[in-house]
Amino acid sequence: MEAALLLRTFICLSVWLIGISADEPYCLAEELTPYVKFSSKTPYRFARGAFNTTALVPQGCEAKQVWHISRHGTRYAGFSDLKDFVNKLPKLQWLIIKANETGKGELCAQDASNLEGWSLGALNVTWASILAPEGERELRELAVRYKSSLPDLLDYPFSNESFKFRYTDSQRTEASARAYAEGLFGDAGSTIYMPKPLDPDPLIKFYDLCSKYIKEVDDNPEASIEATIFREGPEMAMVIQEVSRRLGINTTFGDVETMYDACRYYKAWDPVALSPWCAAFTPENLKVLEYWQDLLYYYEDGYGHAINYESACPPIQDLVQHFRKFVETEQGPRGIFYFTHSGALNKIVARLGLYEDSVPLAHDNLDPDRLWRTSNNGPFATNIAFTLSKCEDERGWWVSTLLNEEAVKLPGCLSKEGCSWQDFYTFYGQYEFCDFDAICENGKDSPQGPNEMSYFWDLIAKEIRQFWEDFWFSLDH
Ligand SMILES: *[C@@H]1O[C@H](CO)[C@@H](O)[C@H](O)[C@H]1NC(C)=O
Ligand SMILES: *[C@@H]1O[C@H](CO)[C@@H](O)[C@H](O)[C@H]1NC(C)=O
Ligand SMILES: *[C@@H]1O[C@H](CO)[C@@H](O)[C@H](O)[C@H]1NC(C)=O
Repeated sequence: MEAALLLRTFICLSVWLIGISADEPYCLAEELTPYVKFSSKTPYRFARGAFNTTALVPQGCEAKQVWHISRHGTRYAGFSDLKDFVNKLPKLQWLIIKANETGKGELCAQDASNLEGWSLGALNVTWASILAPEGERELRELAVRYKSSLPDLLDYPFSNESFKFRYTDSQRTEASARAYAEGLFGDAGSTIYMPKPLDPDPLIKFYDLCSKYIKEVDDNPEASIEATIFREGPEMAMVIQEVSRRLGINTTFGDVETMYDACRYYKAWDPVALSPWCAAFTPENLKVLEYWQDLLYYYEDGYGHAINYESACPPIQDLVQHFRKFVETEQGPRGIFYFTHSGALNKIVARLGLYEDSVPLAHDNLDPDRLWRTSNNGPFATNIAFTLSKCEDERGWWVSTLLNEEAVKLPGCLSKEGCSWQDFYTFYGQYEFCDFDAICENGKDSPQGPNEMSYFWDLIAKEIRQFWEDFWFSLDH
């Protein structure tokens, strides 16, 4: 009797509690594990594993050479995003506060108060795209972990012969390279020799030189039509509607996009703090926005178009050449370190054959278990570390591959532990012969190739500008 009563009370209580939690709007401030999968703006710490010796070098073998390519770390938002922050966020904040005061919207008190406490502070457009302090930490600590997992190879003083660095022509990749060098060499890292960047760079920013990619994907809005359809579709309409209801204001897609960027950038700049603008979204909303981003990258860099990954042979060629030379001569640098952009890393991930879904991503098949998930395989500071080891037994030379410090199984290898050099070469040796101009159909449309063409147009534009400047100057005087 008593037990039955107890059970009934328990059931009533549970139903009541479930009822409450279903009705209660989502409150970010009370969330212990907020959703932080923000596609390419995911802070590295939420996406990484951790280098360890066993994952990098098999038992009984010795690391001989590493080839490590990284995306720059967390940066400030780009120019147009920062302009949107400056122009739109204070206005949205004011509207949200007004709505909240008049009892509109569904924000919990703490979320509303966090949004009210937000301010632009010193943030302004001169910071556009520069590496944030968190980005420096990401790269420095990445190098520290690599070195402490491979002390015999990487705890070694710098010389031009022992370590090669290369970064693209941008502040954020240069600062990333410096931070990484400081992780390896301490204070000396700030002065070690690194070659001047190339612009364009045929090795680590190869896609800038690929006519076919530029024409068919980069300059072609149709290439990412799936992302566009999804952006204009019912899932996104629901997000806009729910965000409007939560905030108590009418929002457009543009508002939602700016608040999403504010949410994820502020989280990346200070990952341990709560990011107030994230309160505009439920985790379900964030998953819809994440899929939209995954679609974009899938079609701009990933498996969506063959030319995306076919253009990525120069870095794989470079990797194979370095390792083959070392296997044959036992000579070469201890470390090769490259610092580039998401456009390079995403394409290399696809060229290696990682995270390929059997069904292509499309606007109408949001698969929560998809493999192509840029929050995991393309966050800030995404990096792929190849380690070449020499084993004294029948294994011979060995290659391990870690993506974001997590061992990955390459299609050509038997397991996550890696590949014998033979197996690795059997699968990836083909990229040692990389006819980039043929793949990219360079010189097909214009005998000069894309780069000289853009140089040519830049020159014309400069001449025209100069002409008008001289013209106005002559009128003034
Ligand atoms: C490294 O190479 C650069 C460029 O060739 C040269 O200027 C520099 O002096 C070299 N540094 C050392 C320590 O040899
Ligand atoms: C939102 O738009 C609707 C329809 O245009 C309008 O009736 C409503 O008053 C607006 N709400 C707010 C909070 O501005
Ligand atoms: C080392 O890393 C591998 C692969 O990333 C992981 O599976 C393993 O658990 C790690 N081992 C230790 C001792 O942390």
